[in-house]
Amino acid sequence: MSKKRFNVLAEKNPTPRQLGIYMAAFLAVVMLIAMSFLFLISGGELEWWHIGLMTVLIFGTAYGINIVALERFIYRRVKLIYKTIHNMKTPKGAKAKKMNMGRHLIDEVEEEVTNWAKERDKEIENLKKLEAYRRDFLGNVSHELKTPIFNVQGYIETLIESKLEDETINLPYLVRAAKNVERLSTITQDLDMIAQLESEDLHLDVQRFDIHELAMEIFDEMSITALERHIQFSFKQGCDKSFHVKADRERIRQVFVNLITNSVKYGKVNGNTKVGFYEMDDKHLLIEISDDGYGIEEKHLPRLFERFYRVDKSRSREQGGSGLGLAIVKHIIEAHKQTVTVRSTLNVGSTFGFTLEKA
Ligand SMILES: Nc1ncnc2c1ncn2[C@@H]1O[C@H](COP(=O)(O)OP(=O)(O)O)[C@@H](O)[C@H]1O
Ligand SMILES: [Mg+2]
Repeated sequence: MSKKRFNVLAEKNPTPRQLGIYMAAFLAVVMLIAMSFLFLISGGELEWWHIGLMTVLIFGTAYGINIVALERFIYRRVKLIYKTIHNMKTPKGAKAKKMNMGRHLIDEVEEEVTNWAKERDKEIENLKKLEAYRRDFLGNVSHELKTPIFNVQGYIETLIESKLEDETINLPYLVRAAKNVERLSTITQDLDMIAQLESEDLHLDVQRFDIHELAMEIFDEMSITALERHIQFSFKQGCDKSFHVKADRERIRQVFVNLITNSVKYGKVNGNTKVGFYEMDDKHLLIEISDDGYGIEEKHLPRLFERFYRVDKSRSREQGGSGLGLAIVKHIIEAHKQTVTVRSTLNVGSTFGFTLEKA
């Protein structure tokens, strides 16, 4: 409450002690008048009915002034509290709740204020979390962008200083600069994708398609990358056939690309990447992508799908990773209301799995 508002309130409303004095004084005056009146009409000789009338009169007056005083005293303050709460809680223009003096007013107000305060607490907690998260995210993004930008800057400055006369560095530095620019491009593309996936109106273009066929397309697209590390793509036994699912094909393509890229990047040279399909129940198909690569220590697994989380930073950077691939995978699968999991053993390999609705 602002100070000004409080002062206005203090002027209008007496303190409980003042209120007590006013009420008592008022009652005393009324009784004095009534008694004088009684004394007059009875001519000094009180009868039983005089006392009865007196009792009724005192009761009525006391009740009346109590109610009026309480209403003025409590009602005004409580109404202000209500207004303060309801102004924030209800849409503009909504009326403050009406007071009913016949009910347990204070209890009701107390309960409402407590609930209101709890809600506020929760909101503040959430806002704090969001704020911390936003700070982290911004920090991570600028950190990720800084390295490649500095690298490109360095290579270009060196080339300028040498006036392109040093044949031994011209091409290698240009190639390295280009690699870093590519990394920048990957990061911004992935950030863009995350922003898109997080936007409120994420639209899924759900359709029925053969996921085995999609996997084959991706094997094909990525065969050159796989060749660099001599990694073989194949299907698990009994899985080299059609499996129909209901999902957004383009988004699931992104999931496959990210998971298979990882299996190649973090797979051992001459290794294998295998895709398997398993019918879970009447409704779900489990899709697994396994490699026999470096594997991941168990302690990293719970955080693996977080943005920018990397187990082996230097290897990931060297391979052009943004640290966002698995965060994107998780987003897409969760948008489909499905789940994604990982199993891994260090130096044995990793298996990433996700479910989809069968069609
Ligand atoms: N198949 C895998 N084998 C081993 N480690 C993996 C595998 N897939 C992901 N990782 C680890 O998880 C981290 C996060 O993966 P990701 O989100 O795709 O980011 P990026 O590949 O850009 O580093 C990687 O940096 C890597 O350390
Ligand atoms: Mg990746």
